[in-house]
Amino acid sequence: MTKAQASNALDRALVLEMVRVTEAAAVAASSLIGRGDEKAADAAAVEAMRKAFDQLYMDGTVVIGEGERDEAPMLYIGEKVGGAPGTGPKIDIALDPLEGTTITAKAGPNALAVLAAAEEGCLLNAPDVYMDKLAVGPGYPKDVIDLSKSPTENVEAVAKAKGVRPNQIIVCVLDRPRHADLIAELRAIGCGIQLIPDGDVAGVIAVTDEDTTIDLYMGSGGAPEGVLAAAALRCVGGQFQGRLTFRNEDERARARKWGIEDLNRIYKLEDLAKGDCIFAATGVTDGSLLDGVKHLRNGRMTTNSVVMRASSGTVRWVKGEHRIGD
Ligand code: FBP
Repeated sequence: MTKAQASNALDRALVLEMVRVTEAAAVAASSLIGRGDEKAADAAAVEAMRKAFDQLYMDGTVVIGEGERDEAPMLYIGEKVGGAPGTGPKIDIALDPLEGTTITAKAGPNALAVLAAAEEGCLLNAPDVYMDKLAVGPGYPKDVIDLSKSPTENVEAVAKAKGVRPNQIIVCVLDRPRHADLIAELRAIGCGIQLIPDGDVAGVIAVTDEDTTIDLYMGSGGAPEGVLAAAALRCVGGQFQGRLTFRNEDERARARKWGIEDLNRIYKLEDLAKGDCIFAATGVTDGSLLDGVKHLRNGRMTTNSVVMRASSGTVRWVKGEHRIGD
């Protein structure tokens, strides 16, 4: 898509405004870093994000949020957000006010406040189930990765394209018992594995940054987080494939309720986030993508954010300095 074709709904001004929203959530969560209370940290981020949306001129709808209406008091799926209902541009929002609640409670790395925004109907309404994820950074031949193939085949394909041996490939994986077989298979090839405790949005995005040395992301995590990560990769490049996985009939029913008919479908980037889209994130704790919120001694604090847009490919790194209490 050229700049001229870029959507009008995603007004240029709205791109930068989205940073205020993730900043507000990150700042609110930051006072609860290391306090051992995941719920309080999440609630603070949710409330702040909800308020910040009201300042924006848009008629927004949450398509990926804190849960279904009966599960979440705020930012539930279907909730209207934005200060111009009925008159502003119709925007669909995928959000996670605090991606990494446990990380925040334990003061670990890579907690983020994140959102993606796109024109109505452009983000997959992913149910809250797991998604098998496979991601690689930019610069590789089209379809170098394929979720229908084994982890070994994918590592070999990426190694060949990169011109290295498979045992020189580094794979990022969520540290979970369900990944025991995946980890054993990768160890058998001799890959380096970066095990992360939580936060697979940052894990997937890490493949786009050569400084992280991570070549591939593999394994299952939340499907909503998969859509958020896909929106980011649409903006910065890279390849991603995802397939929903279901633990029981209730989860299958949830997916059908959101209009998903083919439960085995492999989704590529454009299936998860199509058309023009915006991705914004602010660091809560220090991480590979962004530094976290820092409370300074002079009554001020700093935030670090990134905001990107698919149609222009522009990536903006935004450092904010704020008065504490504002
Ligand atoms: P929360 O912010 O809800 O704690 O999610 C963190 C996270 O690690 C996500 O990044 C990831 O997609 C998901 O949890 C993995 O789920 P599980 O902890 O059930 O393996």
